[in-house]
Amino acid sequence: MIRNRLGNITVLVNNAANDDRHEIDAVTEEYWDASLDLNLRPQFFAAQAVREQMKAEGGGSIINFSSIAWRGGASNMPVYATAKSATIGLTRALGRGFGTDNIRVNAIEPGAVITERQKRLWFKDQADIDSLVARQTIQKMLLGDEIARTVLFLASDDSRMITKQSITVDAGLR
Ligand SMILES: NC(=O)c1ccc[n+]([C@@H]2O[C@H](COP(=O)([O-])OP(=O)(O)OC[C@H]3O[C@@H](n4cnc5c(N)ncnc54)[C@H](O)[C@@H]3O)[C@@H](O)[C@H]2O)c1
Repeated sequence: MIRNRLGNITVLVNNAANDDRHEIDAVTEEYWDASLDLNLRPQFFAAQAVREQMKAEGGGSIINFSSIAWRGGASNMPVYATAKSATIGLTRALGRGFGTDNIRVNAIEPGAVITERQKRLWFKDQADIDSLVARQTIQKMLLGDEIARTVLFLASDDSRMITKQSITVDAGLR
């Protein structure tokens, strides 16, 4: 459908995810499958689906959303963390596999980005935000537009020799 309206896809941003919090003991086999179905599976199959279109255009850029969460040991979202760590392996494998077609594959690992959803669920008052920001090296609230800047960089020719990499955008939290 997108192809009919806009032509071949040359940039794919794999952004969809859900970072619900829960106990490790609460994970059922159904939850495990559903979480990986949302947080990991589409990153592979969307990339596979656009490959020929990017190849036909002489190249492209695939940007996979990971997260810093898995690196610290996110025991309150173990399946999400599993998916987000797998994103790094997937990025490297697809980067190698697609590179001969000049298709670059990179990942972004955001820190704690204060979106409306995050505010609604986990950073409910200013004190929560202040204590998070105090743990960052750059002590300003991390907002979505900072992540978008990195997406635009990885989508553009400015990053034309960068592939198989993961860029952390976390204001120095990790
Ligand atoms: N916000 C953060 O602090 C943070 C930190 C690290 C990584 N990330 C990653 O950055 C990306 C964007 O995060 P965000 O905070 O903007 O999340 P968000 O929940 O605000 O947006 C995620 C998007 O995924 C879509 N989505 C959710 N379930 C879906 C489903 N079943 N089918 C199709 N689409 C679905 C939503 O509609 C939404 O557009 C995600 O990959 C997330 O894991 C976010």
